[in-house]
Amino acid sequence: MKTINEILQLINSEIDKTAWTKEPRGLYEPIAYTLRLGGKRIRPAVALMACNLFSEDVQPAIKPAIGIEIFHNFTLLHDDIMDKADLRRGQPTVHKKWDENTAILSGDMMQIAAYQFIAETKAEYLKQVLDIFSQTAGEVCEGQQYDMEFEKRETVSVAEYLDMIRLKTAVLLAASLKTGAVLGGAKAEDAQALYDFGIDIGMAFQLKDDLLDTYGDEKTFGKKIGGDILCNKKTYLLTTALEKADAVQREKLQSCLQIPSGREEEKITFVTSVYDELNVKVACEDAMNSYYSSAMANLDNVQVDNDKKQELRILAKKLMFRED
Ligand code: IPE
Ligand code: IPE
Ligand code: MG
Ligand code: MG
Ligand code: MG
Repeated sequence: MKTINEILQLINSEIDKTAWTKEPRGLYEPIAYTLRLGGKRIRPAVALMACNLFSEDVQPAIKPAIGIEIFHNFTLLHDDIMDKADLRRGQPTVHKKWDENTAILSGDMMQIAAYQFIAETKAEYLKQVLDIFSQTAGEVCEGQQYDMEFEKRETVSVAEYLDMIRLKTAVLLAASLKTGAVLGGAKAEDAQALYDFGIDIGMAFQLKDDLLDTYGDEKTFGKKIGGDILCNKKTYLLTTALEKADAVQREKLQSCLQIPSGREEEKITFVTSVYDELNVKVACEDAMNSYYSSAMANLDNVQVDNDKKQELRILAKKLMFRED
């Protein structure tokens, strides 16, 4: 069994080996830049950890896990254009450091590279792994489309929001776990239980992301605080606030949302004060905890030695308390 740290070292050294030295530099340098900035790399980490539950040898899962991480990084390049985000991992986003066309095309190249890594999967599992990946990648696009459409809508229910984040975020974590499990030789039921665990962890992960976007610290989070508020993003905080508000509070919230650009700080302060008034931060933490409990129950269903599941439990717990 490997520890999380050993697994992360393996992933990091594998990503460091990827060379993006080809021409044109304008296409490859933004990819190298994005990957150099790291990130938490939790998707490849859970893929290898899932594999390790069933097999001492994690080697068969390394290339596909790196493929998933490159895919994730690709989604960030396009997401940052869509969300008008200037900062990621504490540094300027690709479309700011270069321009939007660069972020589009380098992102496209990353998606191609992701498939190239996944294509390195052992022949006996290749079709299954590719199918999981393609299905998931499509769902991420569906989630991102809902996310965009919801910005323009006056109200979005919490239920609609939860379905949207399942697609844009949770399925990729779930698919990472399932892919690792399959490559470790897991039975179908165990691969599915790990998928379900991943959905729950992914839901809690996006709830925490929403929470940090308003209540986090820019230095540790690496993204601009209040970005979601400025886009009228229908986050857990906003959808819950809209559901909890009485008529007066809803009126106040809707008028805050209409504060025009040029008054960014004022808008962030006003909306945050309504969130505070409605106690939505606590509601968000409660929802996270409930997904966390459900995740633990799904992990219990995986038919391997209890001790072996400890590293995944530790990681899940860490993600609940993360500040980055
Ligand atoms: C950011 O993912 C996008 C979301 C799904 C919230 P991460 O928080 O995993 O980003 P990095 O890779 O660690 O930077
Ligand atoms: C990210 O959602 C989902 C994907 C990138 C697919 P967010 O837009 O909340 O992620 P961050 O906050 O920019 O990392
Ligand atoms: Mg974003
Ligand atoms: Mg987004
Ligand atoms: Mg976010």
